[in-house]
Amino acid sequence: MTADVHVIAHPLVQHKLTLMREKSRSTSSFRRLLGEISMLMAYEVTRDMPTQLITIETPLETMQAPVIDGKKTVFVVIMRAGEGFLDGMLEVVPGARVGHVGLYRDPKTLVAVEYYFKMPHDMQERDAIVLDPMLATGNSAVAAVDRLKETRPKSIRFVSLLAAPEGLKHFHDHHPDVPVYTAAIDRQLNEHGYIVPGLGDAGDRLFGTK
Ligand code: URA
Repeated sequence: MTADVHVIAHPLVQHKLTLMREKSRSTSSFRRLLGEISMLMAYEVTRDMPTQLITIETPLETMQAPVIDGKKTVFVVIMRAGEGFLDGMLEVVPGARVGHVGLYRDPKTLVAVEYYFKMPHDMQERDAIVLDPMLATGNSAVAAVDRLKETRPKSIRFVSLLAAPEGLKHFHDHHPDVPVYTAAIDRQLNEHGYIVPGLGDAGDRLFGTK
């Protein structure tokens, strides 16, 4: 299977990403930009979402018109930076359900350790969209999708703002069936597991914790 990577090259996304990378950007501005980008990325990620026809009355006549069933979508937030992606996605698909996966990176080994996992019921009927702004080593992404697959969702997509080539490879070595949507693939990881040139620690920048 050829692994699927979609780089969302839309100028609005690229412009906002550039602003987010600047180290002088304030926490509030970083958060607002991530919210705006997530709405734009939601548009791409949901492009082939199934629709069904319902009967409606326009002021002129009765017609069959398409609607999506938002409730069938579950956004799976990888805590904590994934939270920053959520509000924008929910603006676009307000009926979606939300699951959470809590993982932290062991600072020495960079291995992902799980501390929280909560999904809506009936996952077998839902399309899962996993949210994590930084696909760096790929360890958390692999661990989150390993756990998510135990709930057997109908489909899984992974959305990151930035990806490292090493992380993409690692992720698709484990999950070649899961398409990745990202705004950019940066040059590499540094020795601390940060994406370079990158934007720093997305969680710290989002929540102002550093
Ligand atoms: N997580 C981040 O927040 N930033 C990186 O560059 C890598 C992982």
